[in-house]
Amino acid sequence: MESSKNKSKLWGGRFEGQTSTLVEEFTQSLDYDSLLYAQDIAGSRAHARMLAMQGVLGSDEAMKIIAGLDQIQEEIESGNFLWNQELEDVHMNIEKRLTELIGPLGQKLHTGRSRNDQVALDFRLFTTSALTLWQEELLSLIRTFTDQARKNVDVILPGYTHLQPAQPVSLAQHLLAYVQMFKRDFERVGDALKRTKVSPLGAAALAGTTYPLDPQQVSHEVGFKDVFSNSMDAVSDRDFVLEGLFSGSVIMTHLSRFCEEIIIWSNPGFGFILLPDAYSTGSSIMPQKKNPDVAELIRGKTGSVYGRLVSLLTTMKALPLAYNRDMQEDKGPFMEAHKTVLSSLKIMTGMVSALKFDSLAMEKALKSGFLNATEMADYLTSKGMPFRQAHHVTGKLVSFAEKKGAGLEDIDLADMKKFSDLFEEDIFRVLDYKEAVNRRNTPGGTGPESIAVQIRDIGEWVDIQVKSGKCGDSLG
Ligand code: ARG
Repeated sequence: MESSKNKSKLWGGRFEGQTSTLVEEFTQSLDYDSLLYAQDIAGSRAHARMLAMQGVLGSDEAMKIIAGLDQIQEEIESGNFLWNQELEDVHMNIEKRLTELIGPLGQKLHTGRSRNDQVALDFRLFTTSALTLWQEELLSLIRTFTDQARKNVDVILPGYTHLQPAQPVSLAQHLLAYVQMFKRDFERVGDALKRTKVSPLGAAALAGTTYPLDPQQVSHEVGFKDVFSNSMDAVSDRDFVLEGLFSGSVIMTHLSRFCEEIIIWSNPGFGFILLPDAYSTGSSIMPQKKNPDVAELIRGKTGSVYGRLVSLLTTMKALPLAYNRDMQEDKGPFMEAHKTVLSSLKIMTGMVSALKFDSLAMEKALKSGFLNATEMADYLTSKGMPFRQAHHVTGKLVSFAEKKGAGLEDIDLADMKKFSDLFEEDIFRVLDYKEAVNRRNTPGGTGPESIAVQIRDIGEWVDIQVKSGKCGDSLG
């Protein structure tokens, strides 16, 4: 087996034997952590500056180190940086290059620091950027759903339970239900962000350090507020990644639920929506087909995000304190999940804004599903009939109408009276679907007044998020 000299490795001092190429390939983490170069350099700049402020480095030394780091960032971004797998990870690749550029001074950067607290900081910075991007996309999605709701307050469709037609609702009410889910997602991500933006730098390998470091200064400089409280926890905590993956999983759950509705509604049996061409595909053999592939793929990719959450939960389970190399397996799952969550959110926003609703098909479905049966039962109850009996009488009328292939509203008053003499001419107004919706103005109900309140509240909430800039501090 090929091997390389451990002399070249930054940790090679005590090693005499050699690392095999296979082991090198197996242990390296560059595939994912080279994507952390900007965060790694930002953390190192902050560390160098803090070391100078604390008198551990001369200020001219810190300046030279920072200039070297700037040059490395430029080399990486212009594609002129030579990544070396033998050096294992992003941290050692950058440090080695720094030493090439500025000489032995480069070796001073790691004073009072370990890769254990370094990688934790890098990944906290990366996760912060990712979660902030999710929040921005969630706000766009909330706006898009709310715009569609505003345009469709007067469109009535069957609301379902058990996917069986239940009661008429406004299309706006249906769409605004998703707005509430995405609002909770935004808040959940914001909550995870609070615990992500905590700097672990200064924990060193696991026990803290003898150098007079100022962790608060580093935290402040990288855009965080808080610092770790316990060095062993700081280097072994990956809760922030797990919380990110969990929040992402719930986002995908919500997206996939709406995807399922798009898939069902676009089925000609429902015909409630016309799939936008840009978000559907045809079949290579069946010319009539228009398939909801994009919705199916978001639904399908949800599984991979869940998988990544379970993967990291399983990696972390039963790890003894403090840092363990197992934890290197945190980056792939989160980075892959991040790509999926971010692109799914973007695509959903585009797809929802392009959706066209067929209100006539929705109206037809209302009629054939007897969605005003509850209204009839409530009518009889309001005239003094006990509800159980009213339920029974209405059931008989549904069966009567079904045999005639008609809706409840099509039955003559004389026929209705055969089932109960409580029926009067005013029943027809009660059976009107629109009226049924309009009557439900209790807070959060589907009536137009309740919907207006919901739309106003969500608009105000979005404005507050945008103004407070809570989601606008992406770290690049
Ligand atoms: N590549 C490692 C990771 O991602 C960096 C930390 C390595 N630390 C160590 N002591 N081997 O976790």
